Amino acid sequence: MSHSAHRRTAAAAALALAGLLTAAVPATAAGGPPASAPDSRASAATSPAALAAPDIPLANVKAHLSELQSIAGANGGNRAHGRPGYKASIDYVKAKLDAAGFTTTVQQFTSSGATGYNLIADWPGGDPNQVLMAGAHLDSVSSGPGMNDNGSGSAGVLETALAVSRAQLQPEKHLRFAWWGAEELGLVGSRYYVNNLPSAERSKVSGYLNFDMIGSPNPGYFVYDDDPAIEQTFKDFYAGLGVPTEIETEGDGRSDHASFKNVGIAVGGLFTGASRTKSSAQAQKWGGTAGQAFDRCYHSSCDTTSNINDTALDRNSDAIAHAVWTLSAGSTVPPGDVYEATADVAIPDNGAAVTSSVTVSGRTGNAPATLKVGVDIKHTWRGDLVIDLLAPDGTAYRLKNSSGSDSADNVIATYTVNASSEVANGTWNLRVQDVARYDTGYIDSWQLTF
Ligand code: TRP
Ligand code: ZN
Ligand code: CA
Repeated sequence: MSHSAHRRTAAAAALALAGLLTAAVPATAAGGPPASAPDSRASAATSPAALAAPDIPLANVKAHLSELQSIAGANGGNRAHGRPGYKASIDYVKAKLDAAGFTTTVQQFTSSGATGYNLIADWPGGDPNQVLMAGAHLDSVSSGPGMNDNGSGSAGVLETALAVSRAQLQPEKHLRFAWWGAEELGLVGSRYYVNNLPSAERSKVSGYLNFDMIGSPNPGYFVYDDDPAIEQTFKDFYAGLGVPTEIETEGDGRSDHASFKNVGIAVGGLFTGASRTKSSAQAQKWGGTAGQAFDRCYHSSCDTTSNINDTALDRNSDAIAHAVWTLSAGSTVPPGDVYEATADVAIPDNGAAVTSSVTVSGRTGNAPATLKVGVDIKHTWRGDLVIDLLAPDGTAYRLKNSSGSDSADNVIATYTVNASSEVANGTWNLRVQDVARYDTGYIDSWQLTF
């Protein structure tokens, strides 16, 4: 007797197994190509441990800053919107990303009569419906080279992107890095990007992380008080270092995260302080000089590579990597492909074994070590039943023995079988035998999850 086998999502299968889904679900015919991983997750999915983020080498971050300083030096002392030092900064960052395997896009816009540029770098792979973004503005004011504001964030995000490439990271989410133009003219570049993102694309952005001024010379450690999960990710990183943080209050909405927040995207970020004065309480917990600005060179010509606190830049660069690794990993394992038989098979009372088959095709290699076998058998005394999974070559895996004392109804369970020595493709059977008199039942459905 052959039974129809089809494939559907793990979530739908879990619902069906729980008896919550009665209507037929759309499915490919047996033998069709594997269904793509759906967005929804089976409730049984578990959290994988996210890979630990690497330590971001401070020397690499500082090397990017030196390059940006040289660019300013060769272009009239700044990297401001509409000036040649800005475009040269874009070219420098883009070349690094292109060489590392990113897909880069330069987006042009016009502001104050000059052409501006955003640089977008996509890391291939990940779920296109879950995009994690991290960005920094790359422009300086015209009065200086803009090393802390915002060479620091630009270099930290760049080195994190390069670390993603070195690790050949394959996160669950799609990663996108961005360098914004004309932030100093009023968040112009990031607003242009968000306004030109179709709403369907906007809704795929699960978060935007902003880094603007992360190496202030008299630093504070400020975390944006926005999306709770993002905020907590940064706080966890700093708790691990034993460094206290405070909520950022020096002008909420004064950087590019506001462009994203304004359209409802979850945001977060880090900041080490601008023209505000460090209090004595802050100097006590963070060191540095009380009564002095976090950045005395904010928006001035002295915002050079000397205007950077290495410890703050180092910690915050590592924090960027921590957040990118942690927030892109996803919280659930993707559901597997489910192969299912739904035709009822009567189980004769105290009689011969019956089987129900599922055909698996289009897979490569062996079955997994954690092959899940979902069983839904209706029976009035399940202790009567002996259940085996038969691999395509006939090897039997015992799922359940009979038991004279197990008087409950039904077998609705998921078994895990180490089937790693079995070729995946072929006809798998569920074999059920009723070995004791009086009570009877039938196989309602069963499925294999690869
Ligand atoms: N680029 C910002 C500016 O010039 C710097 C800044 C000030 C900032 N306050 C902030 C960045 C608060 C982040 C959060 O306005
Ligand atoms: Zn600024
Ligand atoms: Ca029986």
